[in-house]
Amino acid sequence: MSHLPWRAAMEQALYGPQGFFVREDSGPAAHFRTSVHASPLFAQAVLRLTRWVDEALDRPEQLTVCDVGAGRGELLLALGAQARAADPGLADRLRLVAVERAARPRGLPAWITWTDRIEPVPAGLLFANEWLDNVPCEVAETDDDGVLRYVLVDPATGAERPGGPLDAADAAWLRDWFPGGTAGGTRGTPVERAELGRWRDEAWTEAVGAVGRGLAVAVDYAHTRADRPPFGTLTGYRDGRQVDPVPDGSCDLTAHVALDACLDAAARANPRVTHSLWTTQRDALRALGVSGARPPLALASSDPAAYVRALASAGEAAELTAAAGLGSFLWGVQAVDMRDLPSLGGWQTLVS
Ligand SMILES: C[S@@+](CC[C@H](N)C(=O)[O-])C[C@H]1O[C@@H](n2cnc3c(N)ncnc32)[C@H](O)[C@@H]1O
Repeated sequence: MSHLPWRAAMEQALYGPQGFFVREDSGPAAHFRTSVHASPLFAQAVLRLTRWVDEALDRPEQLTVCDVGAGRGELLLALGAQARAADPGLADRLRLVAVERAARPRGLPAWITWTDRIEPVPAGLLFANEWLDNVPCEVAETDDDGVLRYVLVDPATGAERPGGPLDAADAAWLRDWFPGGTAGGTRGTPVERAELGRWRDEAWTEAVGAVGRGLAVAVDYAHTRADRPPFGTLTGYRDGRQVDPVPDGSCDLTAHVALDACLDAAARANPRVTHSLWTTQRDALRALGVSGARPPLALASSDPAAYVRALASAGEAAELTAAAGLGSFLWGVQAVDMRDLPSLGGWQTLVS
């Protein structure tokens, strides 16, 4: 096959007829470990956030939790089970909706709604963990004459070659979000290579637009103006290992998200957005009660089984909040038609 622009190649490789994410055999969990797979503590934290939204909205008759890019429904399964155990009153009012391009997994309980389109969330929480990094995007590189061009890729081998110059919309996006425009990156270095975020901006804008009242939260590998990567981040994952990004359907293809651009686009498009902020997963999860502190040693002699459980839980919390790992993910949070914000610590405000 001849070379394709990266966006078309990603679309085909991830979501085409035998695409990596939609084939029945390969759920995301088989190839990489997200926070959802790492520990039920993640769902517990999302449940805490759900309860905060519930209170802030004065306990609506129905509260929707919509998980966009839901994988095989793991987050909603855990959240629903935990809600039933901890707060049956809330569980009865919860509507759990998984939005996913893959088919509904066999055996998923009926209390989880499965759809391939984002539906209205009249009151509640829209949550997207590691969704936007899988929204296909173009890649641009500066050629020897300083001209920014699309990068084309051979789907069979991953070999790249330069394509045409960027169109006006992509050039504008890059100028807006990589300071210095076409000739300068964040630290005054040239933008040698960059992933163009327009399609992530559009995807996120649509998601936030679905929320009537409540929070929209995107959690991802991400960067903001302060730390743009000058050489791009596109990579592949297969069987738990990072691999070269070959768009042949054999691996996940992911590129970090310009999260501030997504939040900005959604806020500009939607006057009902009242707050736009981001923080690290480390701060967000700590504020939501996920602690990596070791249990007191005295517990080991008074209740050895409880000690072992607490130790395992502390290990999982440490993985979720590790500064060099999942803890460095960014949580982008937008409140729609809400007065207050949850206290998730370390907030950075969107400056556009
Ligand atoms: C990296 S996985 C994350 C799965 C899950 N959220 C987790 O954290 O374990 C990304 C998922 O997003 C889904 N996805 C990508 N674009 C989508 C879209 N436009 N609508 C619904 N699902 C989408 C993919 O099929 C894939 O299952």
